[in-house]
Amino acid sequence: MSQKPLIILAIETSCDETAAAVLKGGTEILSNVISSQVEWHAKFSGVVPEIASRKHVELIGPVIEEALLKADIKLQDVDAIAVTHGPGLVGALLVGLGVAKGLAYGAKKPLICVNHIEAHILANFLENPDLQPPLVALVVSGGHTALIYMEDFGKYEIMGETLDDAAGEAFDKVAKFMELGYPGGPIIDRLAKEGDPTAIDFPRAMMKSKNYDFSLSGLKTAVINYVRGERAKGHKINLNDLAASFQAAIIDVQIDKSIRAAKEKNVKSLVLAGGVSANRTLRERMGQAAAKEGIKAYHSSLALCTDNAAMVAKAAYQMILKDPSLLDVSAGRNMDANAYPILDLCQHS
Ligand code: KG4
Ligand code: ZN
Repeated sequence: MSQKPLIILAIETSCDETAAAVLKGGTEILSNVISSQVEWHAKFSGVVPEIASRKHVELIGPVIEEALLKADIKLQDVDAIAVTHGPGLVGALLVGLGVAKGLAYGAKKPLICVNHIEAHILANFLENPDLQPPLVALVVSGGHTALIYMEDFGKYEIMGETLDDAAGEAFDKVAKFMELGYPGGPIIDRLAKEGDPTAIDFPRAMMKSKNYDFSLSGLKTAVINYVRGERAKGHKINLNDLAASFQAAIIDVQIDKSIRAAKEKNVKSLVLAGGVSANRTLRERMGQAAAKEGIKAYHSSLALCTDNAAMVAKAAYQMILKDPSLLDVSAGRNMDANAYPILDLCQHS
């Protein structure tokens, strides 16, 4: 591999953010452009897949152009094009994949396909130079809730995951029921700051189970039942207390299982990843609980917690470090765009 720092252009369209970024040398973010579609989904209180795909088609071109412009480079200057191949909304993923394949084919650049969950975990390596595997990652987003043991780059073991709703989904559904707005996570986070987390005793599902799985749909139902019960009695709902108590029920289980998982794997680093890791109470409390056990908890800045393409570029960078042949366009792998069945693209998942 050349000694020059690698420059990677990455594209992310797995859900409702259209994003492109340029990363140099695995650590220097030259640009990180994120165009949120939230205003188009807000009136439905959730992501509408058909709208997401159409908006990605409209936005992807300008977003990539802006990422190159901000990085002050031309497409010819990049060493590889990275793209999220999944998991995510299939129609939304196809837009990013199609564009990435077209660019790679036209500019004769290698195409690197990235797993979205791995990218969320690796976002933490962009800002924490001291972080190294092995580690345990709590991945909490709108679509996923999992505890993952990362033995090394490219070596992952899912220790447990949600049996029903994802953490972000629970935040969004409760916010929708309370007619608070979309996405619900940041709104509940804000309301909870002024509330009492012990005011309402919501269930801590699977807290006592010995495995690392989660279950969140019962909590959402408990919140709905509580609110209906209070309203039937003519009581006014204290939104701050409700938000703080709901959030605490989620966070208590996440902290307990994350620390247990880190201890079982005997790792000293715990990483928070995904959109819900933007939650201030989760970050603070995880940091404190981990420190008590001699474990360091890491998280990223807000723009790198939620969906972005810099994390996709970082994941591609680490894949290339492990397997430099991924850069070999002449191997034919990356040149014949038609040869790829869309979701079999990845060499790595
Ligand atoms: O990672 P992400 O941007 O997209 C997925 O891959 O799903 O995560 C989006 C989720 C949404 O459900 C949103 O409500 C949640 O992350 N979220 C938060 C916060 N900020 C975003 N949840 C709790 N507290 C927050 N501050
Ligand atoms: Zn995500």
